[in-house]
Amino acid sequence: MVREIVVYPDKRLKMVSRKVEVFDETLHMLLDDMYDTMIAKNGVGLAAIQIGIDLRVLIINIPLDELDNEHAQPKENTLEMINPVIIEKDGMTKFQEGCLSVPGIYEDVDRAKHIKVEYQDREGHTHIIEDDDFLAIAMQHEIDHLEGRVFIEKLSYMKRKKFEKEWKKREKNG
Ligand code: CO
Repeated sequence: MVREIVVYPDKRLKMVSRKVEVFDETLHMLLDDMYDTMIAKNGVGLAAIQIGIDLRVLIINIPLDELDNEHAQPKENTLEMINPVIIEKDGMTKFQEGCLSVPGIYEDVDRAKHIKVEYQDREGHTHIIEDDDFLAIAMQHEIDHLEGRVFIEKLSYMKRKKFEKEWKKREKNG
């Protein structure tokens, strides 16, 4: 089921999400709804708080090809991360990011180049994944959501000011 996306500056985006303790049908339904919502909105990642659920749950599905077709993000390719923790990070990189909660805004953000993350899957089994490419960026972006952080908060003072001005203008014009 496609759910409604929480849009900036909604205060819920500032919440620190709670650890998942129970890996049951409710969690699986949440994950399935998050996938449906991400696909419907053409996203590559989504944190639970972006549909108003303050649990440490995120999904990422990097399209298989550049072509924007419906088969590029099959459900079985979805990385489902419960209670993710960054256990290693190094290097630095810059990447142009966007976010379903800040639609239409794309800005360069500084991130670690390489990260290693420990997380649980929907059954509660623990895994470790590491990456130094686009997936590493996506994981850092989504894990930030679990801490109540949105990517535009990482912009420089001037860029942030410019964004806030543009955003207010857009809100006024609907
Ligand atoms: Co986001």
